Amino acid sequence: MNDDIKRVLLTEDRIRAGIASLAKRITGAYAERELVVVSVLKGSCIFASDLVRALPIPLEMEFACVESYRDGTDSEDLSLRLLPRARDIRGRSVLLVDDILDSGRTLRAVRSELLEMQARDVATCVLLDKPSRRVVPIEADYSCFQVEDVFVVGYGLDLAGRYRNLPYIGELRECAIASATGGRDE
Ligand code: IMP
Ligand code: MG
Repeated sequence: MNDDIKRVLLTEDRIRAGIASLAKRITGAYAERELVVVSVLKGSCIFASDLVRALPIPLEMEFACVESYRDGTDSEDLSLRLLPRARDIRGRSVLLVDDILDSGRTLRAVRSELLEMQARDVATCVLLDKPSRRVVPIEADYSCFQVEDVFVVGYGLDLAGRYRNLPYIGELRECAIASATGGRDE
């Protein structure tokens, strides 16, 4: 698995430090509000798990299932399923957590569902931001690191379901992308 990585972009130590400083900002902002953290599965499960443990404030966790890439490296159609019921969200402050903000389609779609469920407010929080890839105009309220336009894996991020368990974030070799996507770089 490590052989498929061309270079390490973010080491475990840098990720840990980034999350600690992000958590301080979030803790300050939500000291007075009852928070619901909505983690977008599957990619943000590792980031969200580390983030909530760095937040010393009362909160609940909920999850949204979003599938997009279908084994490729680009998002078009989204299949979206929110696990919380409307009554878990209505009137609450929501922190919507995803692994990476790329085209922006995922966060926009989940945020509008949460607003339809009458969340009091929805802030977005991502580990990585790839601003050069944005298709819809959306910015994260909280983000840890900006990355260039390369396909990254590890720390929850996958290609065709693999590499989520790498403890760091790295750029994949082109040959690994080609073999996972059957030659298509979609
Ligand atoms: P968006 O809807 O295009 O913003 O894409 C967000 C989703 O695409 C994220 O939740 C990731 O699952 C996935 N994604 C975007 N870029 C990458 C990447 O470089 N590596 C792995 N997954 C990615
Ligand atoms: Mg994802």
